[in-house]
Amino acid sequence: MSIEAKIAAGSKAVEFIKSGMIVGLGSGSTAECFIQALIESGLNIQAVSSSRTSTELAKRGGIEVVDINSVPRIDITVDGADEIDPLKRMIKGGGGAHVREKILASSSDEMIVIVDNTKLVPSVGTKKLPVEVMFYGSPATRMKIEELGYQGKWRQNPDGTLLISENGNLIYDMHFTSPPKAPEHLHEALINIPGVIDTGFFFNMAGRVIVGYPDGRTEIRR
Ligand code: 5RP
Repeated sequence: MSIEAKIAAGSKAVEFIKSGMIVGLGSGSTAECFIQALIESGLNIQAVSSSRTSTELAKRGGIEVVDINSVPRIDITVDGADEIDPLKRMIKGGGGAHVREKILASSSDEMIVIVDNTKLVPSVGTKKLPVEVMFYGSPATRMKIEELGYQGKWRQNPDGTLLISENGNLIYDMHFTSPPKAPEHLHEALINIPGVIDTGFFFNMAGRVIVGYPDGRTEIRR
């Protein structure tokens, strides 16, 4: 993956933002390229953010970040993805922010997805699926997840301690040996387990998809 591809996708997304809009900020390195380009555009917008890191970057650049609970609706959310397939099904949560990102995306008139070309896959589920799990009862919840036939591990911090999401929960990274045939069914099965907050699957949420390439080209998929 190349930073040029991420910058290209992030900068292109700014063309769809207009002054006066309420803009949802995703998380991750590609979303940060968008936030940087948004700062440089000088557009007068209000933002709602999916993570502490995105909030801090936006605020440092002079963007007004408002509380999600103070806005009824978001015009456009711009966010990255870990995987996206031709049906625009995605896996997100590499940065552990997928629960908030999904709330922003589902509250937006449009979610614009920005990815570098390495994120394009034939079918979602090539590596791992982040699943946010409540700490309370987490060993039992994990057992029920693994009874579906998958293995995985709790996400850790670099020092080996358990990573706690900004929502105060654990992230279980479920591993795939091959992409699931029916990711929608797997998502349903997972969210029906008590203690599972949400999965990193995003279905029927992506609007325009901006793909960035290392040579600075972009392609928009609708
Ligand atoms: C964070 C996310 C990110 O959008 C996803 O992990 C992509 O990150 P990057 O742009 O750094 O590759 O879902 O929870």
